[in-house]
Formats: sequence, structure tokens, C-alpha cells
Amino acid sequence: MTTTARMRDKFTVVTGASTGIGAAIAERLAASGAHLVLVARSADKLDESAALLSRRHGVTVRTVPLDLAAADAPTRLAKTLADEGIEVEVLINNAGVSARGPVLDGDPARFRSLIDVNVSALTELTTLLVPAMVARGHGAVVNIASTGGYIPAPYLAVYAATKAYVISFTQALWAETRGTGVRVVTVSPGPTKTPMNARGTRSAEAVATTVLRALSGNGPAFIDGRTNALTALLFGRLLPTRLTLSVARRVMARSDV
Ligand SMILES: NC(=O)c1ccc[n+]([C@@H]2O[C@H](COP(=O)([O-])OP(=O)(O)OC[C@H]3O[C@@H](n4cnc5c(N)ncnc54)[C@H](OP(=O)(O)O)[C@@H]3O)[C@@H](O)[C@H]2O)c1
Repeated sequence: MTTTARMRDKFTVVTGASTGIGAAIAERLAASGAHLVLVARSADKLDESAALLSRRHGVTVRTVPLDLAAADAPTRLAKTLADEGIEVEVLINNAGVSARGPVLDGDPARFRSLIDVNVSALTELTTLLVPAMVARGHGAVVNIASTGGYIPAPYLAVYAATKAYVISFTQALWAETRGTGVRVVTVSPGPTKTPMNARGTRSAEAVATTVLRALSGNGPAFIDGRTNALTALLFGRLLPTRLTLSVARRVMARSDV
């Protein structure tokens, strides 16, 4: 269990903190007294957030502008943290990109870059930072997936597949770290109103609340919002796959997410 009291005055790394869900998580954690390391490509937005959050909540906020699609980005971030003597109490792997459209029309380079951010960077950052948490006997990792990770998504195929990876990887690591004092959990938002999804129905702030609930809970996987949880259960677990795919194909063909 990682309560906000435990995170107070310690550093939490939030990737994808410049907008949307990551920015909402950063705001919520700063309000709870956590120091922050904000990571994304947009240096200006990160600096603006850092100034605002430290003024508003009196916490230390460090920014690391970084393209997480770059192969050496996770090791560079880990080195920057080590060089500055920052001990990471919590890692929130939130940065993510989406790519809509039929796979047949897809750009392989774009898919590779999406996988680099959603899968490779998340895996490497987790692998680089968790051993020190285990050695200390406390810490936490939250990996942001998606309800799309529970349900194959035609026209959003590569994105949903990366999120299925995040759910599987994180749940396995949850099992591997049982009894170490380190909390590992995946949180899946459904459609959430952010720059990634103008038609989202949940708010980024609601997802941030679910992230805090997930941190203080015990289970390996949380879904934001009851309707999203029911949808994931029904289409991801209960209905036959052919039926799920047929419904998903029709819904996704109409959607512009
Ligand atoms: N919104 C939804 O409906 C929804 C639903 C389910 C799951 N999610 C997941 O929630 C997470 C946050 O999404 P969001 O909706 O808040 O999207 P968003 O507003 O587009 O934010 C994405 C964040 O990731 C950062 N990012 C993207 N590419 C990056 C790269 N190459 N290197 C470093 N940072 C990068 C962006 O910052 P820069 O552009 O400044 O780099 C931004 O801070 C993602 O993992 C997403 O898959 C979202």
C-alpha cells in the first residue's frame, strides 16, 4: 500500500505530464505534498506546470524534457535522476500515443514509434527503477493502460495491443514483487476528455482520483469508472471473441477516437 502520506516529501516521476491525464495526476500528487519529476517532450509546458505546481503547493518540481520514443531515453532519464541524487518513491508511466485507422493503411514507422513509447519506454523505466525500490523495501509503479487493453480494437489495433501488453506485464510484475513492500499496479482509463480524445466522457481529474485509489489499494489492476469496468468485463472476458470483435468493429468504424 502506498498512501499519499508515504509519498509526501518524496519524488514521484510522472511521464506524459505536459497535458491530459498526466497533468491531472501531477496536480493531485503535488496537492498531497509529493515532489515531482515531470517528463514529456514539450519543455515549455513542463516548465509552466512546474512553476505553477511549486508555487501553488510548495513542492519541488523538476522537469526533464525527453522524447520517450528515443531508444536511449529511459537510460538517460535514470542517469539524470541518479546524477541529481533523486530517489524515486513512485513511478507513473503515463506517456502514451495513439494511432487510429486500418492497419492496412498504417505507417510502420509510426507504429514502431507508438510501441517505443507505450511499451518499450514503460518497460525499461520500470526495469531500471524498481530494483532500488525493492532494495529499500518501499515504492510504487503505476502503469497507465486502457480499457482498449482488455478488448481488441479494430482501427485502433496497435494502440490497443500495446495496452494489452501493459496490463499483462504489470500484472505479472505485481506477482513478482509480492512481499517486497513495492506496489505495482496498472490503471485503465476508458474514453477520457484530453488532447488525445476530444470526445472522452470521463475527466482527467477522475482518472487521477482512480490512480490514487489504485496506489493505496492491493490488487494488480484498476479500471477508471464503473461503466468502463463493466464494458471491459463484458466484452473482454464474458462474451465470445467473435461477437466482441463484430461489435467492436462497428463501434470503432463510427468512432473518431
Ligand atoms: N484519453 C483517453 O481517452 C485515454 C483512454 C485510455 C487510456 N489513455 C492513456 O492515458 C495516458 C495519457 O493520455 P492522455 O489522454 O492524457 O493523452 P495526451 O493528453 O495526449 O497526453 C499524452 C502525454 O504523453 C506525452 N508524450 C507523447 N509522446 C511522447 C514521447 N514520444 N515522449 C515523451 N512524452 C510523450 C505527451 O507530451 P508531449 O507531447 O509534450 O511529449 C503528453 O504529456 C496514455 O497512456 C493514454 O494511452 C487515454
